[in-house]
Amino acid sequence: MDDLEQLRSDSLARIAAADLDSLEALRVEALGRRGRVTALMKELGTLAPEDRRAAGQALNALKSVLAEAIDARREALREGALDARLAAERIDVSLPPRPEPDGRIHPISQAIEEIVAIFCQMGFTVAEGPDIEDDFHNFTALNIPPEHPARQDHDTFYFEPGEDGERLLLRTHTSPVQIRTMLVDKPPIRIVVPGRTFRADHDATHSPMFHQVEGLVIDEETHMGHLKGCLIEFCRAFFGVDDLPVRFRPSFFPFTEPSAEVDIGCSRSADGLTIGAGDDWLEILGSGMVHPKVLENCNIDPARFQGFAFGMGVERVAMLKYGIPDLRTFFDSDLRWLRHYGFSALDMPNVAAGIAQ
Ligand code: PHE
Repeated sequence: MDDLEQLRSDSLARIAAADLDSLEALRVEALGRRGRVTALMKELGTLAPEDRRAAGQALNALKSVLAEAIDARREALREGALDARLAAERIDVSLPPRPEPDGRIHPISQAIEEIVAIFCQMGFTVAEGPDIEDDFHNFTALNIPPEHPARQDHDTFYFEPGEDGERLLLRTHTSPVQIRTMLVDKPPIRIVVPGRTFRADHDATHSPMFHQVEGLVIDEETHMGHLKGCLIEFCRAFFGVDDLPVRFRPSFFPFTEPSAEVDIGCSRSADGLTIGAGDDWLEILGSGMVHPKVLENCNIDPARFQGFAFGMGVERVAMLKYGIPDLRTFFDSDLRWLRHYGFSALDMPNVAAGIAQ
């Protein structure tokens, strides 16, 4: 009992120096079931009755002093650890962010986006169809029967014949989606159809895979005047030239009658091509009033319903609008090219704003 004071000062010194782990060990050593203070408590019974009371009080006092010192030290250690963590993990908000490489929108995607936005503003909706087509949708239903000379113009990629002898093909234009839509939907129909198309043709101005946007309007009163108004409005909105000259030139497609190719005014000089000025013309799309046979093939009564269709090459209009000189570069997957000609996802131009309401 004499060295209680010694035990007290030793223990307090060790507690003051302990970390969280050794603190727990110290607690067990002093106050645990087999701890030193606990052992001394057990010895109380061996003391003379007159000493027992004072010794008991002293031991109890020591016990609470040590317990309090341990709790206080634990608390201090925890706070210290938190402070250290806060200091070490502090975020320096004054640091500039590291530049993130941002992707670019491919000019083809951008052009499709802009074309579709303009037609949607006019009340069209978007339809799509498969890249792999059958003869019926790509040709026959479009009034291009087998042996029709127009089939030769299309340089079609065919698959091996299937078990039924039928050869599937890669669609040569987006026009089969006209058929797919008319077979399912009833008029009024107003759709635009962006998509991939394929022809076995590869040179400076032709790629075996390219893109088109098709359009189709069918109802009871749409006439050639609507076709003209709609496409003039589109050309002016897309190229951003309010008074862009637009010319309709008689043409032929088996699935439209009459048919017209649409040219826009331009001028060619040593500096290149300027859209909207000058005395030259540039063809940008094919169009016409949907042929009555095509309506019949889709179970739509041509005596009651009529409308127009058009199809344009996306690469063509993208090259013109964005000043891209070479068609082949669209599909080279050259990142330097994409960084130069691509678009930021954030600055999609508000082309639809260009349409007169
Ligand atoms: N499908 C035609 C082509 O690829 C374009 C076109 C579509 C023409 C619709 C008239 C009407 O050349």
